[in-house]
Amino acid sequence: MFMNFRRVHKLQCLQLLTTGLVLCVLMICWEELDHHVVSHMRSYTYRYLVNSYDFNSSFGHNQKDSEGVDNGFESYPYLINHPNKCVGRHSQSWDDVLLLLFVKSSPENFQRRQAIRDTWGNETYAWSELGASLRMVFALGVHRDDGQRSTVQRALLQEGQAYGDLIQQDFLDTFHNLTTKLILQFHWAHEYCPQAHFFMSADDDIFVHIPNLVKYLQQLLSRKSGAKDLWVGHVHRGSPPIRRKESKYYVPEDLYPWSSYPDYTAGAGYIVSADVAAKIYQATLVLNSSMYIDDVFMGICAKTMGVSPQEHVYFSGEAKAPYHPCIYSHMITSHGHAADVRSLWKAATDPSVHYHSRGFLNNLYCIAIRVMLLCRPNYESMYPCKAAFI
Ligand SMILES: *[C@@H]1O[C@H](CO)[C@@H](O)[C@H](O)[C@H]1NC(C)=O
Ligand SMILES: *[C@@H]1O[C@H](CO)[C@@H](O)[C@H](O)[C@H]1NC(C)=O
Ligand SMILES: *[C@@H]1O[C@H](CO)[C@@H](O)[C@H](O)[C@H]1NC(C)=O
Ligand SMILES: *[C@@H]1O[C@H](CO)[C@@H](O)[C@H](O)[C@H]1NC(C)=O
Repeated sequence: MFMNFRRVHKLQCLQLLTTGLVLCVLMICWEELDHHVVSHMRSYTYRYLVNSYDFNSSFGHNQKDSEGVDNGFESYPYLINHPNKCVGRHSQSWDDVLLLLFVKSSPENFQRRQAIRDTWGNETYAWSELGASLRMVFALGVHRDDGQRSTVQRALLQEGQAYGDLIQQDFLDTFHNLTTKLILQFHWAHEYCPQAHFFMSADDDIFVHIPNLVKYLQQLLSRKSGAKDLWVGHVHRGSPPIRRKESKYYVPEDLYPWSSYPDYTAGAGYIVSADVAAKIYQATLVLNSSMYIDDVFMGICAKTMGVSPQEHVYFSGEAKAPYHPCIYSHMITSHGHAADVRSLWKAATDPSVHYHSRGFLNNLYCIAIRVMLLCRPNYESMYPCKAAFI
């Protein structure tokens, strides 16, 4: 009897343990499982949903007042500007701007800006080493803190004079004014640099592999069809608006009532061709800019103008790329590099990097390394597994 009882006890223990184990595994996997199920359901329904949205009538200014002038869109005056950034330097070919690079910065990020100037934002490097005419400017608002504003502003004026690369408008530099900063970029590009073949918008904590990027853009330009209708980056497809009030990305229903955003590229770094930049500019003139998540607003502008984003596997979205020469030979952007930009720039643009990907055996070796680095679960915003086989 006693033995029997113990056996039962043991069995129950085993059962309990197994259940516990299964639950643990489920809980660990749940987040991913949940995400996958949701995203599949999303992608299934989203095209139908988004395609039936009429952003023109929902986001157009003119719906409410028939005068329709200057209501949603506000233009702030420039406090620092360099109107001649894109004109009148050395030679004719230098004025043929390949890429206008807009870096979204904030007034207090002096060090990040300096690191970018010394590395991937170095126009002289792009010109002398790559034969590419690059123009790099920083987009800024004014410091959000009343107490520090005047001190920081004085420093900014000096910095702008020293480097000639700050573009600042008179709005508060806050998260909820990012769409205003987006509008600044497209309006400045329209007015002062419309001849640039490509326009890039980037965060000030990303890394851009300029040699790889320039090669890619030059290839696009040399195509017969030219570089038209291009919007490329790390694409978010059918993301749902976040309705949790405590989230940074919270968007109330009255601001955006639908259950899915149009496709958009991660704001960390994306590129558009000149014709698309012009279309986005047009869209900012007629759309209500109260959607404060700038990359979503960009998606709405693009949707209105009939432009869709394209995926490039080596734009990283919100994630940091693994450190390896086999990655450096292909990477375009990587996110989260405020501190190590200089060392990464040195390593990633070293001539020996290309040696690694040359020849059959080296190539095979690099594919194996990239499979190991990229093809594992939980690398949501990182380069996808298929990037290993390029
Ligand atoms: C939306 O508005 C823009 C600019 O006015 C126009 O070019 C475009 O054709 C419109 N799109 C639709 C779907 O009506
Ligand atoms: C930019 O690149 C050039 C050419 O490679 C180099 O001589 C110069 O020192 C660089 N400038 C900065 C600020 O790093
Ligand atoms: C955006 O900037 C404007 C102009 O400085 C300011 O009035 C407004 O409060 C800012 N909005 C947010 C959400 O910070
Ligand atoms: C823009 O949208 C916001 C939120 O939906 C709304 O409160 C505001 O009145 C709109 N502005 C215009 C000019 O339609």
